[in-house]
Amino acid sequence: MAESGIQAFVCGHPVKHSRSPLIHNYWLERYGIAGRYRAIDVSPGNVGYFIQSMQRNGFAGGNVTIPHKEVAYRMVHSLDPAASAIQAVNTLWFEGGKLIGGNTDAYGFARNLSVNTKDWVHGETALVIGAGGASRAIIHAILNARYRRVHVLNRTVDRAAKLAETFGDGVVPGPLEAATRLLPVADLIVNTTSLGMEGEGAFPFNLNNARDDAIATDAVYVPLRTAFLQMAQARGIRTVDGLGMLLHQAVPGFMRWFGIEPAVDAAVRNLVIADMEKVH
Ligand code: ATR
Repeated sequence: MAESGIQAFVCGHPVKHSRSPLIHNYWLERYGIAGRYRAIDVSPGNVGYFIQSMQRNGFAGGNVTIPHKEVAYRMVHSLDPAASAIQAVNTLWFEGGKLIGGNTDAYGFARNLSVNTKDWVHGETALVIGAGGASRAIIHAILNARYRRVHVLNRTVDRAAKLAETFGDGVVPGPLEAATRLLPVADLIVNTTSLGMEGEGAFPFNLNNARDDAIATDAVYVPLRTAFLQMAQARGIRTVDGLGMLLHQAVPGFMRWFGIEPAVDAAVRNLVIADMEKVH
């Protein structure tokens, strides 16, 4: 039996940890929209077929998460500017029957900072810790905000160097240990790694010589107060947690598929926090 209303998905592998269904289905109910958003585990071998057949299968679009963002990037008919710069797609929708790929991670990052601090866009120098997929979207967002310099510091410096190369002059790679030297000039400090989490290594630097007016934010939102944010709080600088990035990145997709701009407010935020507190 066909599902009623507008259908959307998040596909990933694994996907069961995704909180996107919780967020989108909450908004669907709140705005009285007939439809459903579901998590679909799609293995790497099946993702091509899955994306090709999504319209036939009645989907208005969906989200793409790890490890499919790069495959989706190569499969769509056209890309929005963010997906094009980040070289990864996290949101799919149709325009005139053609499949379009967008990336809303940079938007989510920027919006989260704009909502929680007025002045992040006035900064000039940023430190980004980590050089993985999340880092790419975040560097794009920071450059869009007209920062002059983004230092990407990573355990594997070569990976930071490869990432920096694709962005050009303003992005400078370095080792994690360079943080201590760079903190006095950093307006914005972003962690994108699981460093400091249980079972991972500790940060090989502290934030003691960060500027008093620096802003620290984390792409990781489980737990909400990451080891990095705790370190920033102990130093007394402003912090913005990563849950807002997750919530804001969901907004453009919801608008595309369901036609309404959903509110990122305490209600949806608390819903995700309550889910995080459940023992899975
Ligand atoms: P994502 O897409 O979420 O950014 P990823 O691509 O797996 O995830 O990247 C994880 C990042 O965390 C990388 O920058 C990784 O450093 P390496 O490139 O050197 O692997 C960093 N990271 C993870 N665990 C780490 C650890 N124990 N010590 C230092 N860096 C770590």
